[in-house]
Amino acid sequence: PTTLKEAAQAKGRYFGGIMSSNSLNNPTATSLAAREFGVITPENEMKWDTSEPSPGNFNYGPGDRIQEWAAGKGMKVRGHTLVWYNPDVESQLPAWVKQLPLQQVRGAMENHVTQLVKHYKGKLLAWDVVNEPFNDDGSYRNSVFYQAMGKDYIAIALRAARAADPDVKLYLNDYNTEGDNSPKSNAMYNLAKQLKADGVPLDGIGLESHFEVGTVPSTIQSNMQRLTGLGLDVAVTEYDNRMQVKEKQNQTPVNPGDLNTQATETKNLVTACLNVARCVGMSQWAVGDADNWVPLFFPGSWGSATLFDVNYQPKPAYYAALNAF
Ligand code: XIL
Repeated sequence: PTTLKEAAQAKGRYFGGIMSSNSLNNPTATSLAAREFGVITPENEMKWDTSEPSPGNFNYGPGDRIQEWAAGKGMKVRGHTLVWYNPDVESQLPAWVKQLPLQQVRGAMENHVTQLVKHYKGKLLAWDVVNEPFNDDGSYRNSVFYQAMGKDYIAIALRAARAADPDVKLYLNDYNTEGDNSPKSNAMYNLAKQLKADGVPLDGIGLESHFEVGTVPSTIQSNMQRLTGLGLDVAVTEYDNRMQVKEKQNQTPVNPGDLNTQATETKNLVTACLNVARCVGMSQWAVGDADNWVPLFFPGSWGSATLFDVNYQPKPAYYAALNAF
């Protein structure tokens, strides 16, 4: 195989990445994505602030454009994301939801889940139904959803999604849950176990995998193993592996050796997935460094976090992944 898409497929997995409304206008990004990715996640276009900006006013255009583009290229799509509250990134949850009287939150959430899942019925591989439910200490984020329904909001959202599309795979997705022994990864494991015991429809766990070079946990494979032991799929959903860079334009690493560390860690991640039967695939959170969120989002000079450089050329981590599949 000469592309990540083909190499992953040859092992019964997928390799994927994201697409955004901006990148859709960039022929270099779209042709690279179509060549290398078998699965596409819309970066922001299906999130609540875009898809239901005011109550009952559904805006599917931006999400549809990415879904239709991907389908036209023979790629599958992961829906991202239905129910999300993370104050660190504003979570793209519109103010109208945050301001609802608590007794109206359940209805609004069920309606949002139902309408989006119905709209995309038959067109998606999976949905990240609930995104980032936990704080780093393993406690539940104190969202409007949690305030209104307690932790039951997660089961309620999953049931609404299943009722709207019996076939799409339903995921919970979070970060700092990749290794096997952090309070947060234990919380995710315990939640998944409880949901399965309760017969709640849940098909998989997404491990976001936003890493800092040199600190990728060594226990990802064992964590994948314990999660799949519950009868679930796992996927690496948002891989990037950032390093210190000289400036944000060219994202030249401060320590050139970091590119090799990134390559080794990428190889190890691919190998972990291949070693776990129900690890279905891996997506990176970008087309390439030029459109990755890291330089914009992380304070300080971070970047060079993906498999392709600012000119969409493959980096050592790309070849490492290609050889590891
Ligand atoms: C990020 C996008 O990349 C940014 O463009 C946006 O401003 C904030 O969200 N976890 C997730 C993704 O689940 O949805 C986030 O995406 C990155 C962290």
